[in-house]
Amino acid sequence: MEKKYRNALIAGNWKMNKLASEVPGFWAELEPKAALAAGVQSALCVPFPLIPAMKAALAGSQVKVGAQDVSAHDKGAYTGEVSAAMLADLGVDYCIIGHSERRAYHAESDELVNAKLKALLGAGITPIMCCGESLEQRDAGVTLTFVESQIKGGLKDITPEQMKKVVIAYEPIWAIGTGRTATAEQAQEVCGHIRKVLAGLYGEELAKGVQVLYGGSMNGKNAAELLAQPDIDGGLIGGASLKMEFADIIGAANEG
Ligand code: 13P
Repeated sequence: MEKKYRNALIAGNWKMNKLASEVPGFWAELEPKAALAAGVQSALCVPFPLIPAMKAALAGSQVKVGAQDVSAHDKGAYTGEVSAAMLADLGVDYCIIGHSERRAYHAESDELVNAKLKALLGAGITPIMCCGESLEQRDAGVTLTFVESQIKGGLKDITPEQMKKVVIAYEPIWAIGTGRTATAEQAQEVCGHIRKVLAGLYGEELAKGVQVLYGGSMNGKNAAELLAQPDIDGGLIGGASLKMEFADIIGAANEG
C-alpha cells in the first residue's frame, strides 16, 4: 500500500470557537486520551488570540499548534493582518490556507492562496492547503476538474523541494458542518485524483509522499473507514475537534 510512504496527520480546525481561557481545561481533559495515540501526528489549528495559550498547554506534547489563515504580505501597513513571521515567532507549525469559508466570505482566490502558501513556506510553517467543490459543482459533474484547477492554481510556481512541505486537504463544501460526510468512495476518488494531479506536476515519487487529508463532518464513528482509503492520509476536523471526540479520531488513525 502507498500509505507506507506517509504518516497520518489529524488536524483540528477550531474555526472561530472557544476562548484562550478555555484552552488549559480542554487540553487537561484531552491529553490522557490523545496520549494513547502517540504515533500519530496531530495538530490543533486555533484562532490567532488562542495561539499562545495553546502553545503553553501543548508544551512537551506531540500535538502541534496551527493557525487558520495568514497574510500574503511580509510586513507593513496591512491593518488587521497577521504575517507568517509572526506565526513562526509564536512557534506555529501548521497553517490552514484556502479554507472554503475564507474563499466564500473573504473572496479568496487561488492566486491569493498561492501567495499565502509561499509566505508560509518562507517562514518554515507547513501549509495545509484546502480545496473542494460545492454541491452544485458535484451535481454538475465537474468535481474533479474544479479541484484540479484549485490545486494547480494554489501550487503555481511551487518547486518540488517546496512541495515536499505542503499538506493538501480535500473538503467538499457540502460536507462541512452539515453532518453529511462524503462516502469513503467519494472521498477516495477525489483524494486519488489529487495525487494523480500532483504526480503530473511533480512526478510519482514525490506525489506518493504528500499527505492528502479529508475534511467534512469527520467524526469518531466514520473516521476509521475514511482513513482506511489508500489516498486519505488523515483528517481536517472541525466540529469534532472541539470535543473529546477528537481523541477518538486520533485513535482511529493510530489503528489504521
Ligand atoms: P466539520 O468537521 O465541522 O464538518 O468541518 C470541517 C472543516 O471545515 C475543517 O476545516
